Amino acid sequence: MTNEGESIVIEVPTSEDMRALGVRLAGLLRAGDLLVLTGDLGAGKTTLTQGIGEGLKIRGPVTSPTFVIARVHPSLAGGPSLVHVDAYRLGGFAELDDLDLDASLDEAVTIVEWGEGLAEGLADDRLEITISRGPAGASEQRAVKIIGVGDRWTAALRDLA
Ligand SMILES: Nc1ncnc2c1ncn2[C@@H]1O[C@H](COP(=O)(O)OP(=O)(O)OP(=O)(O)O)[C@@H](O)[C@H]1O
Ligand SMILES: [Mg+2]
Repeated sequence: MTNEGESIVIEVPTSEDMRALGVRLAGLLRAGDLLVLTGDLGAGKTTLTQGIGEGLKIRGPVTSPTFVIARVHPSLAGGPSLVHVDAYRLGGFAELDDLDLDASLDEAVTIVEWGEGLAEGLADDRLEITISRGPAGASEQRAVKIIGVGDRWTAALRDLA
């Protein structure tokens, strides 16, 4: 059984803060890590990924893919690549499986937007990140909930909180 580790919630007032959170999160990441991002259209999944990309020092830009479902951003610093996947248009696990993410999963940091209910099958250890908006129309505020699943993340989120 998978072990659901710590869960933390971080309040993120602006898109700048979302990028900054991504940079901080990147400091915890290493090759083999999987992040599954959940949240409505425009919640900030790509913005968070941009911050992570900045922190990982990968070749950008990290964009919202229109037709490209998976994009590989090589490291500019000798670290892991970032594999950025947008699963929005995928029909199911078979199509995700067809992307052959397994091939790069061990060497890269893999981030799957819209991966909920789909990408969990890729790895026992992962971060499940859910971004929600504040009260309608109130502000740009987002709440980011991060759950560390598996041994890899036992206690590893402590520094982020
Ligand atoms: N606190 C915030 N955090 C993140 N983004 C914010 C915040 N406040 C405003 N924004 C804006 O909301 C938008 C988020 O867009 P983004 O592409 O990151 O969302 P997404 O979740 O990836 O959407 P999609 O489901 O279309 O892929 C951006 O225009 C960003 O500037
Ligand atoms: Mg996006």
